[in-house]
Amino acid sequence: MCIWQVEKAIKELENEGRKASAVLITSPTYHGICSNLEKISILCHSHNIPLIVDEAHGAHLGFHESLPHSALSQGVDISIQSTHKVLCSFTQSSMLHMSGKIVDSERISQCLQSLQTTSPNHLLLASLDATRAQISQHPKTIFNKPLELAMEAKALIKKIPGITVLDSCTFSDAAGIDPLRITVGVWKLGISGFEADRLLYKHGVISELQGARSMMFTVNLGTTRDDVVKLAAELKNLSQEHASIRVNDIQPFIGTVSNMILSPREAFFTSKTKVSLKESIGKVCGELICPFPPGIPLLVPGEVITAEALNYLVEVKNNGGFISGVVDSTLSTIVVCSL
Ligand SMILES: Cc1ncc(COP(=O)(O)O)c(C=O)c1O
Repeated sequence: MCIWQVEKAIKELENEGRKASAVLITSPTYHGICSNLEKISILCHSHNIPLIVDEAHGAHLGFHESLPHSALSQGVDISIQSTHKVLCSFTQSSMLHMSGKIVDSERISQCLQSLQTTSPNHLLLASLDATRAQISQHPKTIFNKPLELAMEAKALIKKIPGITVLDSCTFSDAAGIDPLRITVGVWKLGISGFEADRLLYKHGVISELQGARSMMFTVNLGTTRDDVVKLAAELKNLSQEHASIRVNDIQPFIGTVSNMILSPREAFFTSKTKVSLKESIGKVCGELICPFPPGIPLLVPGEVITAEALNYLVEVKNNGGFISGVVDSTLSTIVVCSL
């Protein structure tokens, strides 16, 4: 997210006579790209708006001088980290951090209490504490080895014909990229990231994330040199077995914004029926339809279904992506509101 995008969104609301309540940004992205949160928080605070950061993939940031700065150190008001993703706590355990005076921490606690169970899971809490203890023993050096291994992996992979590595940020306002995320482009081999993942899986190499043109691998505290050597060796085999250029691409959806006939709440509670894709055009969507990649809902309950949106969903599926949120992920049918 660039500062000008945030500025534009705040101004657009002001022009409509409204005020943004908060700015929510995901940083780093799944691929490790970090926004310039320092500049964005200065902007938000000049409007007295809190900046909330989904830092799910950044619980390790700030624990080495080569890693990008953490959200909190850049002045954001709230950051939520999935401690279990890059650090070593149990799956589902995460942390919410707060700073500054704009956000009322007691109000946040009250809101959390209205959502959370009254029976805390002590295994999860203990694993968070153990992770905190693990990091605090060697906070400046604990990531030395993973960073070395990630550099070594990238250097080995870059030598493989037909394979590319994303190691710098091409969009102008980015504040950096997490060196522990290795995004490997395979499109020059004539295969998609989904196909490449299936082939590598047979040899015991599992990617973290797949896309139309690439796969992403993560290096973390548990990664060993053997893992890096195996990854490079299997990618080399893949490159030797595939050599035809075929660009598999899923372009971002740039169709027109469709009409909201019902609010998502109204659509949720209204009666619904299943129809074929063709029959659904012009009807009001009754489910959340989220193509992956990119993992952003294309249609939400209450919106009118357009042919453009359906064509895009089919294209994502045909390129190896999948559709989440829907009852029928084969896309033979779609749930619509019976109006
Ligand atoms: C950007 C982002 N935010 C939030 C989440 C959800 O995190 P959790 O699984 O810890 O609830 C994910 C999960 O992958 C994510 O990628």
